[in-house]
Amino acid sequence: MKGIILAGGTGTRLYPLTLTVNKQLMPVYKSRDLLSSVGSDLMLAGIREILVISIPGSLPLFQQLFGDGSQWGLQFSYIEQPYLGGVAEAFILGCSFLHGEPAFLVLGDNIFYGDGLGGLLLQAARLQQVALIFGYQVTNPQHYGVIEFDQGGRVLGFEEKPQFPKSPYVIPGIYFYDSQVCDLAATLTPSVRGELEITDLNRCYLEQGELQVELLSQGYAWLDTGTHESLHQASSFIQTLEERQGLKIAYVEEIAYQKGYISGEQLYRLAKPLTKSDYGTYLMQLIDDNSYYPIPAKVPALGTV
Ligand code: G1P
Repeated sequence: MKGIILAGGTGTRLYPLTLTVNKQLMPVYKSRDLLSSVGSDLMLAGIREILVISIPGSLPLFQQLFGDGSQWGLQFSYIEQPYLGGVAEAFILGCSFLHGEPAFLVLGDNIFYGDGLGGLLLQAARLQQVALIFGYQVTNPQHYGVIEFDQGGRVLGFEEKPQFPKSPYVIPGIYFYDSQVCDLAATLTPSVRGELEITDLNRCYLEQGELQVELLSQGYAWLDTGTHESLHQASSFIQTLEERQGLKIAYVEEIAYQKGYISGEQLYRLAKPLTKSDYGTYLMQLIDDNSYYPIPAKVPALGTV
């Protein structure tokens, strides 16, 4: 399975912050940007080949941030999304990158956190024959792709941002698809807002009887970062957890080290230039024999994880 990060959009709801900086580069608490957090989701799923898709003006910034990914034991590729063609366009643009392999798509502005998230993503990444999406209960379903259920709890269908949502369950921006995904995406036509909708792609899988929908329990946090308020709330959430536990969330270097993608020496080389900040000192602590605590069994997981 290969990974795609779709870091599109112009972030108009975050203006003026996003007039010059892409919304996926907005900081979450003090030392993490959204895009790195999303990258950590893919790493937790064990995915090492990752395509970043973004608008032309932002792509060079992402390239500067991630490079070719080898510093974290990963392999990054980049491709432009010239127009806002929709989430499902990721599978048109990313078709040759996927080269017939299943795909894990993450939207660059979604943050996930939860006990067992790493295990859940790992398990999902092992699926080969079906698609898997998630459902999450929210108070404002009209802003998302909404799931409709029958009386028995069976999924009947999906609607993209309906005025009158048929349930409070919506689809967060993490999706697992099998190798048919590019062919199915190629059959889609633009919606009234002119985009290839991920909701339509999910409907194709549902109609073929090849879609699993798993509802995420209360134990998971899925945070939106699309508005000033929600971005602030996400930062406060991470701050609370990090300060209480003394652990860091979604530090890609730490995950790479824990997963054995990089050695202690490589981690040292990454951490050394950053030691004037907490970020670097935390990473140094991981390799310092005197102060290093044993690696916990569970990797703290932030999805924009
Ligand atoms: C997109 C999808 C929507 C999904 C949401 C999750 O919306 O179209 O179905 O629920 O991401 O963040 P957009 O961010 O393009 O408005």
